[in-house]
Amino acid sequence: MEQPINNIESDLLLTAKENVFKIAVLKGDGIGPEVTTQSIKVLQAIGEQFKKEFIFTEALIGADAIDKTEEPLPQATIDVCLKSDAILLGAIGHPKYDNDPTAKVRPEQGLLALRKKLQLYANIRPVTSYPSLHTLSPLKPHIIEGVDFVIYRELTGGIYFGKKETNEEGTIASDECKYSKEEIERIAHLAFKVAHQRRKKLTLVDKANVLETSRLWRKVVQEIATAYSDVTVDFLFVDNAAMQIILNPKQFDVILTENMFGDILSDEASVISGSIGLLPSSSIGSKTALFEPIHGSYPQAAGKDIANPIGSILSAAMLLDHLGMAEEAALVRAAVAWTLNNKIVTKDIEPIDFYFTSTVGGFIVDYINKNINEGMNEENIALRKSTVI
Ligand code: IPM
Ligand code: MN
Repeated sequence: MEQPINNIESDLLLTAKENVFKIAVLKGDGIGPEVTTQSIKVLQAIGEQFKKEFIFTEALIGADAIDKTEEPLPQATIDVCLKSDAILLGAIGHPKYDNDPTAKVRPEQGLLALRKKLQLYANIRPVTSYPSLHTLSPLKPHIIEGVDFVIYRELTGGIYFGKKETNEEGTIASDECKYSKEEIERIAHLAFKVAHQRRKKLTLVDKANVLETSRLWRKVVQEIATAYSDVTVDFLFVDNAAMQIILNPKQFDVILTENMFGDILSDEASVISGSIGLLPSSSIGSKTALFEPIHGSYPQAAGKDIANPIGSILSAAMLLDHLGMAEEAALVRAAVAWTLNNKIVTKDIEPIDFYFTSTVGGFIVDYINKNINEGMNEENIALRKSTVI
């Protein structure tokens, strides 16, 4: 039977709407803008190839926002984020605040407030090793070959968000570390679910021999574990975990941990990949999800076109996965792997024979646009030019 015209039209409209994604872009400070610019280039290339439309809306955060509005997280930014399908964030931080412990307003408050406002309670940080970079790691190749684990870091609780106090004389200060059962449960369920889909091993990292909050984590995780009987659960104290990540990182599949331990261990784990500039993350909650590289604002490199854009580009790949575009995400990851295999890498990885941030981004875009054939472009690669000039 023939379909009435108006149905076809509404079908078309529906398809059009399904293929349009609103992305809030929070470039932030330091190298944030230049690495995020590369991710936007990549998403645009993906959009053209797969007939998807990304509508990017920029908003202020961090030191940049303080300079322009006196606030690290203006209300306008929160509004843009809440109306978007996903958020792409660059980096936060500026040395003028780092060196001033008395500053009342700090750039990091913007990021922390955003995480809290959007209830982004689970920060997911995958750690993989790239064969072409093995020789660059300070760790021996046999230790890092085949490493593939993911850190589930709790992001809206713990010592980051507890009561902060300093006495009047400014001689005593305290930071409270607090967790509720519910806060632990919601991220633990996510971590168990992913462990079930992966190699079925979950390691809870805590300091249960000393901290009350850690003992609550253990208790709650032990209870939840009974519902995921095929997942093996391991418990490690954080000091031991810090050592095990370097000694034998292959033992890990899913690491579940609280806010500050996750922050510290993920920087440490980035050494396995070869550079902190390579690690992406996603932050998931009940509202719009956020995607950001794990590195900071790296002010010494800002504006020099030397920062590694891969952490941001792989965060964009996680964004694509989150929005149901698995094939698109896989293509971005293949493009990244291709640049790494061909040593098209930035200064953090290759201090002398390096490529610029924008050139690495350009090669990744070319790969996505199918403008690169293996073996045919060695001359261009040697000339440090992407294939479309
Ligand atoms: C991170 C960063 C942030 C954190 C800072 C910038 C507040 O180090 O995302 O890992 O500590 O969470
Ligand atoms: Mn960190």
